[in-house]
Amino acid sequence: KKTKDQLIIDAGQKHFGATMCKSCGMIYTASNPEDEMQHVQHHHRFLEGIKYVGWKKERVVAEFWDGKIVLVLPHDPSFAIKKVEDVQELVDNELGFQQVVPKCPNKIKTFLFISDEKRVVGCLIAEPIKQAFRVLSEPAGPGSPTSTECSRAWQCSDVPEPAVCGISRIWVFRLKRRKRIARRLVDTLRNCFMFGCFLSTDEIAFSDPTPDGKLFATKYCNT
Ligand code: ACO
Ligand code: ZN
Repeated sequence: KKTKDQLIIDAGQKHFGATMCKSCGMIYTASNPEDEMQHVQHHHRFLEGIKYVGWKKERVVAEFWDGKIVLVLPHDPSFAIKKVEDVQELVDNELGFQQVVPKCPNKIKTFLFISDEKRVVGCLIAEPIKQAFRVLSEPAGPGSPTSTECSRAWQCSDVPEPAVCGISRIWVFRLKRRKRIARRLVDTLRNCFMFGCFLSTDEIAFSDPTPDGKLFATKYCNT
């Protein structure tokens, strides 16, 4: 099986099979003109969208050796809002989300992770909520079929529990995943969402998570 995978990757480099662009992260078939055209379009739009020039009064809420986190609030200058909208469009596009109209647009907090290369490589959008429905953990007994586990719909409790903060989007640039960027975004959110207190993991909720989102959320909330 491993040899087969290797063959596909090799073929990709010779422009036959699926290949991943090393700058925009898109996976496409280089031998397919239509695919290649889509890539060129995506490539420019995407790199333009995540380009971060910065602004004078940016609100840096965390700094790291490989980047920083900037918080954008609804009444910030229009160029800051524009950047957030551009990034959100790319994220929604990737997630296949429909445009969701927030209930309280003036209470939205957007956290952007800015890399040292001056790119927005992570984004977290949060809003205040009053309640959430807990995802019921699956009874993974010794005999349970693990292969179907991922495809099974997660069941939610029908008893609402009080919550404080809802994460409506969390996204990390494909080429920057598994570097704890999402974790650092959520840590920063917990620290900054309500003045003077650090939210517990029980007080935050992920809305409508994707498979990636569930894997991350499960891991994050248990450590
Ligand atoms: N598979 C398994 N475990 C994972 C995954 C994954 N795909 N992603 C994260 N984890 C777990 C790991 O245990 C990881 O720690 P480790 O790398 O030391 O093992 C831990 O979570 C922390 O992961 P981070 O590195 O902080 O996560 P990352 O920066 O890669 O971002 C994210 C995770 C945001 C889910 C990213 O994969 C992504 O952007 N995916 C596509 C967009 C998406 O689906 N977003 C969630 C939508 S749901 C919503 O917005 C409410
Ligand atoms: Zn590209």
